[in-house]
Amino acid sequence: MQSDFSKTRAEFDLPEGVIYLDGNSLGPLPREVSARVSQAIHAEWGKMLITGWNKAGWMELPTKIGDRIARLIGAETGHVVLGDTLSIKVFQALASALDLNPGKKIILSDDGNFPSDLYMAQGLCQMLGDGYELRTVAPEAVMDAITDEVAVLMLTEVDYRTGRRHDMPALTAKAHEHGALAVWDLAHSAGATDVRVAEGGADFAIGCTYKYLNSGPGGPAFIYVAPRHAEKVRPALSGWLGHEAPFAFDLDYRPGSGIERMRVGTPPVLQMVALDAALDVFDMVEIDDLRARSLELTDAFIAAVEARCPDLVLATPRAHALRGSQVSFRHPEGYAIMQALIARGVIGDFRAPDIIRFGFTPLFTSFEDVAAAVEILAEILETGAWDRPDYKTRARVT
Ligand SMILES: Cc1ncc(COP(=O)(O)O)c(C=O)c1O
Repeated sequence: MQSDFSKTRAEFDLPEGVIYLDGNSLGPLPREVSARVSQAIHAEWGKMLITGWNKAGWMELPTKIGDRIARLIGAETGHVVLGDTLSIKVFQALASALDLNPGKKIILSDDGNFPSDLYMAQGLCQMLGDGYELRTVAPEAVMDAITDEVAVLMLTEVDYRTGRRHDMPALTAKAHEHGALAVWDLAHSAGATDVRVAEGGADFAIGCTYKYLNSGPGGPAFIYVAPRHAEKVRPALSGWLGHEAPFAFDLDYRPGSGIERMRVGTPPVLQMVALDAALDVFDMVEIDDLRARSLELTDAFIAAVEARCPDLVLATPRAHALRGSQVSFRHPEGYAIMQALIARGVIGDFRAPDIIRFGFTPLFTSFEDVAAAVEILAEILETGAWDRPDYKTRARVT
C-alpha cells in the first residue's frame, strides 16, 4: 500500500474527544478548506466583485472539479460536471436516459434505494404521463427483473441503510443486453470505494459531494454522462448555463457541447471552492488503497461488534464484493442507542426503522477509532445506558 493514511488524517480538523463515524452522511472539515474559502470571499468576491467570474475562474469550477471527481469514480476526463443537489441530478439523468430510449416506459429500481431517487422518478413519470412507470423490486431481485420492457435501470450502488453494494458491471451489462440504459447513484460510493463508471459501462452516474468527498453541508452534486451519449443527450432542465452560448442571450435553447449541457444555472462558487480544497486530500491516496483500507476497517468493526455486542444484528453483507464503506446493525432501540453513543462522543446515525449506521472513511478513520468506538458501544449495551427518555425523543434530523 502506497497511501499513508496517517498523513491524510492529519489533514482534518476533527474535534477533540470525538470518534466520527458519520463521514458517509456529512464529511468533516478538511484543514485547507477554511483558508481557501476565506480567500475566495475576501480576495475574490471582496476585491474582484463580478470580475471574479473571469479573473478567478469561477465559471470553469464545475468542469474543473468534475475532472477531479472523474478520477475518483473511474470516469473519462471531460465527462463530469458539478451543480445543483443530487435530487436534481437524479431527475436530470433519468429524464435524459428515458429520452434516449423512446418506446419503453419502465424505470426499474429497488426498494432499498434512497427515497428521493424514487420520489424524483415518480414525479417524472407523473409529468410525462403516457404510461411511464416506476417499478421497484428487492435489491437481490434486480438482476432477474431486468427484462426487455425496461427503459432505464436506476440504482444507488451502495444502499444507504444496509451498505449493500450492487454489482455495477454485471447489472449494467444485463440492462444493455435488454436494450435498457443504466443510471447509477454514487452518493455512498464516491470517495470511499473503487467504483469505476467507465469500466462498469454506466450510461449516467450522479452523486453528492457532502458525504465522503467532504464539500460541507449542502455542497454541489455531480453528474457523469458516458462519452457515447454526450452529444446526443437532450437536457430536460435546459437552463441558460447549459446553453451553447449563454452570453448570446438567444431566445431559443441550444445545448452546449458535451457535459456542459448538464449545467443548469449559476454555480454555488463558495461551496465549489470548499470542495476543490477538500479534494486535495484525495490527491494523497490511490483509490485501490482507499478501498483496501475501507474493507479492513469495516472487517475490524464487524468482528469486534459481533464479539462484544450479541444483541446487535448485522445488516451489512459480509462479502467484500457486496459491501460499501459503512456498517449497519439492527436493534429495536437503535435510535436511543445512537443517542447514547453520540453523548459519549461516538458519532454515527440512525435510519428508520431500526438501523444504527457507522461510516468508515479511510482518509481519517483509524483502527484505534474502531476499537474505542466498540468499547463504548459494548458498555452502553451492557449497562442499558441507552434506556433514558431523552435518548428516545427523536430530533428532526436523525
Ligand atoms: C442515494 C441518495 N440519493 C439522493 C439523495 C438526496 O440528495 P440531495 O439532498 O443532495 O438532493 C441522498 C442524500 O443523502 C442519497 O443518499
